[in-house]
Amino acid sequence: MKKWFAVIGDPIAQSMSPTMHEAWLQQNEVDASYIPIHVPRGTVEEAVRSLKTLGCSGWNVTVPHKEAIIPYLDEIDPLAEAMQAVNTVVVKEGRLHGYNTDGVGFVASLRETFPEVSTDAAVLIVGAGGAAKGISYALCRDGFRNMTIANRTYETAEQLSDQLNVSAMTIQEAEQQLAQFDIIVQTTSVGMVHSQEGSPLDVSRLKRGTIVADIIYNPLQTELMKQAEALGGKTMNGIGMFVHQGAIAFQHWLNIQPNTEQMTARIRQQLGGNSC
Ligand code: ATR
Repeated sequence: MKKWFAVIGDPIAQSMSPTMHEAWLQQNEVDASYIPIHVPRGTVEEAVRSLKTLGCSGWNVTVPHKEAIIPYLDEIDPLAEAMQAVNTVVVKEGRLHGYNTDGVGFVASLRETFPEVSTDAAVLIVGAGGAAKGISYALCRDGFRNMTIANRTYETAEQLSDQLNVSAMTIQEAEQQLAQFDIIVQTTSVGMVHSQEGSPLDVSRLKRGTIVADIIYNPLQTELMKQAEALGGKTMNGIGMFVHQGAIAFQHWLNIQPNTEQMTARIRQQLGGNSC
């Protein structure tokens, strides 16, 4: 039977995953397809049952199902278990295996963009939601130990920092002490198209050469990135994270490493940037 893959979420129409995976399937001459499926909140159990019955080989999971899907899986990767979030399901001999490739995708993108980065770097994570959790766990697993979480709601930053045995700060403290950080990772939705405008962090005290990574990719350059660049920061947007999380999922499903560089350029172009 021809293989097929999917992405489930609510909403799902805006997802760029189908275009990306379809292109990789074609490039790698895999006779399979990848489709978006709208799965309303609260219906993930039925969706999982249907995907299994219909012979889906694997699927991505996006908002709001990343945590809700866990009880319906047979196996869960330790990193996804620690994060309590799954974005990739692999069907192996009828059993469902859950992984989380979001944070690992971020680390791959960071390392690709800035190969000089050392795990001794002092990292500031801005935000303490699902995205922050995935990224901070993956950074920790990669050896980054000098990490601080800052969040609008300090208590949430503290909870996450306790889980990882790293530090927590208020946003104001982080702004005051910004020069002590080598890498700043913006994980909130502030600055995203159709979301809240502006920046969640005042970077006026940024040290020159600091890496400022924003997980947003629409717009391609957020307010935070613009301000950081004006002050001598080195910036990275979220396209690479998106492409790498997809590439790691693709490898889990098919054991094929797809072309991430070409895909990053293609998505940048689609979003109105230039291709180089
Ligand atoms: P996601 O899964 O995308 O990370 P989330 O779990 O809802 O989404 O987390 C959103 C994060 O963005 C949180 O850290 C949130 O801060 P609070 O914990 O204080 O809510 C942060 N965030 C959202 N809107 C914000 C704003 N206007 N200013 C600063 N932080 C904001």
